[in-house]
Amino acid sequence: MLNYNKTLTESLKNWTFSEEKFDPLLLGKCESIMSLGNGYMGLRSATDEPYIGETRNLFVNGTFNKFDENEVTELPNAADVTRLDLFVDGKRFSLEQGSTQDYSRVLDLRHAELVRSFVWESPEGKQIRYTFRRFVSLDQVHVIGMKLEVTPLNGEIDFTVRSGINAQLSNTGSQHFHEGEKRIFDKKYLQLLQTTTESKVDFVMHASHQFKLQGQAVELMPKMDIDRRKIAMEYSCKIASGETLVMEKISTVHTSRDKAFEGQGLAVMREAALEQLKQADAQGYDALFEQHKQAWSKVWEQYAIDVETEQPFDLLAIRFAIYHLVVMTPAHDNRMGIGAKGLSGEGYKGHSFWDTEIFILPFYIYTRPEIARSLLEFRYLGLEGARRKAKENGYEGAMYPWEAAWPTDGEVTPVWGAVDIVTGLQTKIWSGFIEQHITSDIAYAVWHYYKATGDQDFMDRYGYEMLFDTATFWASRLEWDESASRYHINEVIGPDEYKEHIDNNAFTNYMAHFNMELAIQYYEELKATRPELLTSLEEKLGLAAAYGVWTDKIGQIYLPAPNENNIVPQDDTYLTLETIDLTKYKKQKKVGSLFLDYSLDQVCKLQVSKQADIMMLFFLLENKFSPEVKRANYNYYEPKTLHDSSLSLSTHSILAGDFGDIDLAYDLFRRATEIDLGPNMHSSDAGIHSASIGGIWECIVMGFAGVRMLDGHLHLNPKLPKSWTGFKFPLYWQGARLEVHVTRDTLNIVTVSEQELELIIHGSTIKFHKELNVQF
Ligand code: BGC
Repeated sequence: MLNYNKTLTESLKNWTFSEEKFDPLLLGKCESIMSLGNGYMGLRSATDEPYIGETRNLFVNGTFNKFDENEVTELPNAADVTRLDLFVDGKRFSLEQGSTQDYSRVLDLRHAELVRSFVWESPEGKQIRYTFRRFVSLDQVHVIGMKLEVTPLNGEIDFTVRSGINAQLSNTGSQHFHEGEKRIFDKKYLQLLQTTTESKVDFVMHASHQFKLQGQAVELMPKMDIDRRKIAMEYSCKIASGETLVMEKISTVHTSRDKAFEGQGLAVMREAALEQLKQADAQGYDALFEQHKQAWSKVWEQYAIDVETEQPFDLLAIRFAIYHLVVMTPAHDNRMGIGAKGLSGEGYKGHSFWDTEIFILPFYIYTRPEIARSLLEFRYLGLEGARRKAKENGYEGAMYPWEAAWPTDGEVTPVWGAVDIVTGLQTKIWSGFIEQHITSDIAYAVWHYYKATGDQDFMDRYGYEMLFDTATFWASRLEWDESASRYHINEVIGPDEYKEHIDNNAFTNYMAHFNMELAIQYYEELKATRPELLTSLEEKLGLAAAYGVWTDKIGQIYLPAPNENNIVPQDDTYLTLETIDLTKYKKQKKVGSLFLDYSLDQVCKLQVSKQADIMMLFFLLENKFSPEVKRANYNYYEPKTLHDSSLSLSTHSILAGDFGDIDLAYDLFRRATEIDLGPNMHSSDAGIHSASIGGIWECIVMGFAGVRMLDGHLHLNPKLPKSWTGFKFPLYWQGARLEVHVTRDTLNIVTVSEQELELIIHGSTIKFHKELNVQF
């Protein structure tokens, strides 16, 4: 159904993918994977004309709202500007009627433009060529551009388009907005206001239209309509056979979350927003698009990653990943995080998970460190909510929420989920209560960022505080087990969410230990070298007592060791659980097929895993385990892992590469790239999988190039999949940008930085200045 080889021009080779046939039962996939955005907002790519089953979403990062006491806050679905109701000779145009030829909808990743075109024959026999274009400007982040071209091919038509701003939308039924004022200025500029019901965020939406017939501007008199939660214009005209009518629609979106309007009041924002619309409208689609293209060309220079391969899909996949990372990341505002579905769908409500720190942050640490810092500052601003969560649960320090929204919101994980097929009730989601590893994942990310960038200012302002307060949480969380004479962490969910209420999940225990180790190390370092900074932190956080507790407890934390078969038990009971034949589920076409036969309670009692758990531990704390232990555990756990979470395959691919099985690593990488971009037409209905998308970059850079930060040193262990002849990527290390090129038998690194740099390549330390060439 998807075509990966559509080459519009030579310069777009491996930059596009397309949908070649319209199917009203498969709307979700392309709505998500072709979604547009700029980090400020995300626009799901519902078709212009409406269909049953569509999900029309426009999200503005950070505008969370809680609809009802019994619900959790979520990104509200703002008013829509994309819907066009089109009529030919008085009859509604729909692809479900008549016949369609030459259909294609192409996402051009290079220029971030969506283009849909086809020839439609109405049931009455009128043939019309349609082309629809759209972009969400990266240059003027408030602007959305649309362009429609209509050409009747066999006779004149009466053409009508109804278009406007439609706020009659909801998030699967929850209406997040109070209705605001609506107004049409100068019979042209549409303005609709809406305000979120609980968080009181004002949205100012604008739209305007302009027309050209055969290249000449035409004034069409609109029929104006203001209705409940809606404002629309209807334009009609006759189009002669062979002539083309072009409609451009320019829209703008502003909200009171925008830093530019902080404290300024609605009237000021309204006026500034209307002014921006007028200017954008005067520029028109083509000029706006040109600026947007320039902005994207800078993006591609910045992230210049390239795969030299006979498998063009691999190159497309990494471009797809970078495209979506740019589109979903609120690089402009440190009060905002990245949603698990980016801004491409209602799934996971716009909430941030450990997906960001473990799967996405490395991409930014090594390619745009300033964005990594902003994302970590989001977590710093979240300390208030994390401290509240700790207190509410009877702990100390900072206990990060499993799901995060606005930084001060604290825990926002919903409590009820999918149906339990045995009881018929909704399954309780325990993650918000007991999936606690997120706290050390964030501490790990702080350390990772610091070590790779050397950003001392970040540490002084934010980092130390985060490390100390998270360590304090773990120290208070540990449970003394008298019979074993050690500290346990009981009643948790580890990364593998198919095991709930378990004791001593190895990942959780090791990472908690690591978190406390970091705090102790930095406490001692500050005491020796920066006593004034330590004193001020001590006063703020009461560290004097905390340090004593950390050091007392750390040596007695239970860290599950490999057993006689080299297997690290995932938790206290996993290895004792019943095993079943998983063949059918391992071959599943759709994730989660196990739940057609078992309830989650039942799955918790089986040796079956949702995702990488022990493998994740090996990836993050890799020098704590030997290659033999890693291989043995891979062989034990992978056959029991269904990869039902999109976070799983990329980690497995990296691990397979670590122990030298490149074919396996490549195979798993391919499967990871297909999670969203692949042929499964339902995999992305609720939105793309942002962790998996970060994981695609991780597979290439941390997997095939073997880039790792270990003990403060940068390691590279390049290895090439069979079908590749080389690959290139940029890599920031200690403020220097390196251009890395790996081929089958060479590694070349160049930098404009004047510093002497030290790297560890395949285990040997190498110092270089400006350029390094290594022959394997
Ligand atoms: C996974 C989690 C992940 C979440 C959001 C769940 O299905 O099990 O590890 O954080 O999705 O992507």
